[in-house]
Amino acid sequence: MSTDPEPVMRVQDLHKSFGTLKVLRGVTIGFPRGRTTVVMGPSGCGKSVLLKHLVRLERPTRGEVWFGGTRIDALPERELSSTRRRIGFLFQQGALFDSLTVGDNVAFPLVEHGLTRDGARDPRVLQVLRMVGLEEKVRQMPADLSGGQRKRIALARAIVLQPEVVLYDEPTTGLDPITSDVINELILKLADELGITSVVVTHDLTSAFKVADRMVMLHEGRVRLEGGPETFRHSQDPVVTRFLRGEANPEELAEIQRAHAAPPSPSSA
Ligand SMILES: Nc1ncnc2c1ncn2[C@@H]1O[C@H](COP(=O)(O)OP(=O)(O)OP(=O)(O)O)[C@@H](O)[C@H]1O
Ligand SMILES: [Mg+2]
Repeated sequence: MSTDPEPVMRVQDLHKSFGTLKVLRGVTIGFPRGRTTVVMGPSGCGKSVLLKHLVRLERPTRGEVWFGGTRIDALPERELSSTRRRIGFLFQQGALFDSLTVGDNVAFPLVEHGLTRDGARDPRVLQVLRMVGLEEKVRQMPADLSGGQRKRIALARAIVLQPEVVLYDEPTTGLDPITSDVINELILKLADELGITSVVVTHDLTSAFKVADRMVMLHEGRVRLEGGPETFRHSQDPVVTRFLRGEANPEELAEIQRAHAAPPSPSSA
């Protein structure tokens, strides 16, 4: 990919701490319009926390979050709803409402924003269900669907307000490779057909390399590497190569070996 379009969203020198735990320590990333940016990094490095800042489910300890010309982190509560409408969020934990039908789940954002009276019958609901290939499930309950189908329903719900940006938190985790690929294809399709700007958090590398225009790797609260997939494939940075090969780092291995070598304490017997 040559020059990237201007960023639709960006975080600037983002810091986030929870008590004494410093999760993000100065992260600056731009998310270019119409492109898919994959954010990677070890478990617990702050990927979900980063995404939550983009819809202000978290607020920075320091730094800025921008959507176009609007500073989201500083926005008054009453102006937040119109900005949030422009961003779809596929949560890590799927999070469908078990007591609602598929149709009512997908219609939920329309109802929440006062855009429809009869959500499940709103044509927009059937349209997005068609996009994810599950129109015929509209009257079923989430419990009667497979994990992959539930993800697709959650994705339909995330796009029902026709957002400009969709945030995906681990969209393929826990799915088999074929089902994962259905989700990957959907991410690509939404980007291509609707021009959606996507931010995909994942440690599924197959998925990452399939959908990414750009990649960002977080490590110890900072951006370790950012660039196209080729930049990542050719990186010589040991932190990056170990991550891509799925190898534990030497300190982690030493910790396990120390624990193994230590004699069991009497209290643990
Ligand atoms: N609301 C919170 N209060 C306190 N600590 C939190 C909160 N949210 C996240 N954390 C901590 O921040 C760190 C980063 O969490 P986050 O969920 O962003 O990790 P992640 O990179 O998404 O990991 P994973 O790949 O396992 O999903 C973790 O140590 C987590 O325990
Ligand atoms: Mg996470």
